[in-house]
Amino acid sequence: MRTIFWKDCLWLIDQTKLPEKEELIACETVDELIDAIKRLSIRGAPALEAAGAYGVALASHEREFSDLEEMKRYLVEKAKIIASARPTAINLSVGVERVLEKALSGESIEEVRKIALKEAERVAEEDVERNKKIGKNGAKLLEDGDIVLTYCNTGRFATVDWGTALGVVRSAIEDGKRIKVFACETRPLNQGSRLTCYELMKDGIDVTLITDSAVGMVMKKGLVSKVIVGADRIVKDAVFNKIGTYTIAIIARYHKIPFYVAAPKSTFDLNRTAEEVLIEERSREELIYCGEKLLAPREVKVYNPAFDFTPLELVSAIITEERIIYPPYEF
Ligand code: MRU
Repeated sequence: MRTIFWKDCLWLIDQTKLPEKEELIACETVDELIDAIKRLSIRGAPALEAAGAYGVALASHEREFSDLEEMKRYLVEKAKIIASARPTAINLSVGVERVLEKALSGESIEEVRKIALKEAERVAEEDVERNKKIGKNGAKLLEDGDIVLTYCNTGRFATVDWGTALGVVRSAIEDGKRIKVFACETRPLNQGSRLTCYELMKDGIDVTLITDSAVGMVMKKGLVSKVIVGADRIVKDAVFNKIGTYTIAIIARYHKIPFYVAAPKSTFDLNRTAEEVLIEERSREELIYCGEKLLAPREVKVYNPAFDFTPLELVSAIITEERIIYPPYEF
């Protein structure tokens, strides 16, 4: 099953329920989709690209319009709101803008609806195709017996299907290589333990869960041969990804372990530098509670950025659907 798909309305696998249950949410309105994006029921840069694309289609279907002009104004307004639901992964706005642009060329209300949905379906389809290409390209970097450390979730749940960094692992295994994975928990929302471990185990891929703070130790012990992570945005001088990625890159460099990034071209934002990108800050509750249980003094000061950026000098190669890009990075 795909992470996100359209069947009469928009359906998502509710990732907040994993690994306990694989449950679907139906989004019949843009507001429901935005709520799902903010709660991380759907997350991961490429999956957000599809969510943004389908979001515009949803806006065109969710209500009646008195005329075409009113509809187009409504789409433009909703597109802005969807694109800003989470600010760091550029893919969300890429998906929104692509479908909006096509939809605005429609000459009747029905035509706009058709164009928007068709383009959103194309975005989803292309995501699966490009992930397979990323996987095929990246698999060349993996050798039989490699042990890959990964962070956050970059697999089928972070995309429409297959995955980016985990897609590389899947493709290498398909090629007959024996690959094992270390998955970091990825505090505070545990995308690594909840999602990466779940999907790899389901596929029979050898995965070992470690705490985020065990990264240095496993590298020091020689237990990791390569690191592969995904990206939320790649700018002129850095790679944005889940908070903690930068720390892993530094430890990998110290231990001379290759640090690879796997991401589609839509993640590139080469007109910007790292300092110009807004890093999403999430709620204090994510740090001070685990469910109902208080993990810290209720009034403690909290700083909870969801992403960090890793300077390109720490990145050994970037794997895209087109090619593997090596330093010096001249995009
Ligand atoms: O906050 P999230 O779960 O959306 O963060 C996701 C990540 O940081 C992923 O590593 C990134 O989007 C790449 S997914 C192929």
